[in-house]
Amino acid sequence: MALGVYPELVEGFTQPARRRKHRINAFKLKDSVTLVRSFCQREPVYLRLMQYFSTFVVGFEDIVRDVLKDFEIETMFSGAVLYRIDTDAERIGTDVFNNTFQVLHYFKRIQPGALPGMMKFVYNSNWMEKNFLPTIKGANTFRVVASCENEIGAVDDNILKNAEVAIAEETGLTLDRGKPDMEYWFLERSEGVGFFMMRLTYKKSEKRLEPGELRPELSNLLVLLSEPENGDVFLDPFAGGGSIPRARKEFPYKKIYVSDIEKDIEIKAMNVDVQKADATKLTHIADASIDKIVTDPPWGLAAETEIEPLYRGMLKEFGRVLKNGGVAVVLTSRKLMMEKLLPQFPQFKLEKNYNVLVNGKKAGVFKLVKSAS
Ligand SMILES: C[S@@+](CC[C@H](N)C(=O)[O-])C[C@H]1O[C@@H](n2cnc3c(N)ncnc32)[C@H](O)[C@@H]1O
Repeated sequence: MALGVYPELVEGFTQPARRRKHRINAFKLKDSVTLVRSFCQREPVYLRLMQYFSTFVVGFEDIVRDVLKDFEIETMFSGAVLYRIDTDAERIGTDVFNNTFQVLHYFKRIQPGALPGMMKFVYNSNWMEKNFLPTIKGANTFRVVASCENEIGAVDDNILKNAEVAIAEETGLTLDRGKPDMEYWFLERSEGVGFFMMRLTYKKSEKRLEPGELRPELSNLLVLLSEPENGDVFLDPFAGGGSIPRARKEFPYKKIYVSDIEKDIEIKAMNVDVQKADATKLTHIADASIDKIVTDPPWGLAAETEIEPLYRGMLKEFGRVLKNGGVAVVLTSRKLMMEKLLPQFPQFKLEKNYNVLVNGKKAGVFKLVKSAS
């Protein structure tokens, strides 16, 4: 889950003997592959920071920048980030990205339509001789994905086959275009850059989401925005399917309150209080007892006449239950309503306000801090 553990997935230099020549070549590496095994040591030695490319929900660029503030961001794209992580880094938290790749080659300036050329460069030039091609631990099969601006398979089949043959020879893996154990990606982006990468987050089957349930990566991002701390008493009063508290329980906490007006939520963890409750009347929660709220009020209510009392009641109740200095992170499709009502709740300082896109819908994320007044 955590970014810092990705290198452990990578087979590094524990490769079959026939690949031993690459141990020497690995020392010549300039950029991407950083895990090397020195001649005299059996354990891997990390010489440089690994370069990663991760994708996330478009519009969350500022949030991702804040979340990765302690790491070296090279380029922020729309819905993607190129960055380096110290492989010794502590976990930065649970996975906030839809997909993460280890960058094997970065094509820094390409023209539109460069995808076939990028692939030829990797299998035709002496790239394979000079560079180490890592695999995922335990993988036996692979496929090659060629992608141009989210269009998969936009390349001539002969070129694809040549790339597959070269990678199979180099890694000892077997081609499986159906359900392989791992994937190598050639990606062309409209910003005029391209990548040859190994996907670190490939799963053969993805969990199905309930209607209205947030993607776990999105819940993780929202939770990280609240700056989770060990002693936190946490609340999600519009919990729905429970995606946000499920993300929060992956960090240390003191207690988690989860409620929804109609949904029965199941969260398997210690010190989690689950209730059916109206978010505007949280009678089971004491005044000034909550450190962090992260929540996602309903998107579907049509009439402003319903929304305004709900949002007013929510902000009043948040003001009551939050401790001074407590934080509320609210993902909302009703940005204008929040902006209209917030001045009426001067105990909240608006620390940050992000414009985001969730499933193609415009939304806002408000980070509020309760002050002493
Ligand atoms: C957008 S959904 C939350 C989805 C949730 N974040 C998830 O990932 O599954 C909003 C939830 O608010 C609940 N809700 C609506 N009005 C409420 C109220 N007054 N108090 C508490 N919950 C309410 C709905 O039942 C719905 O489950």
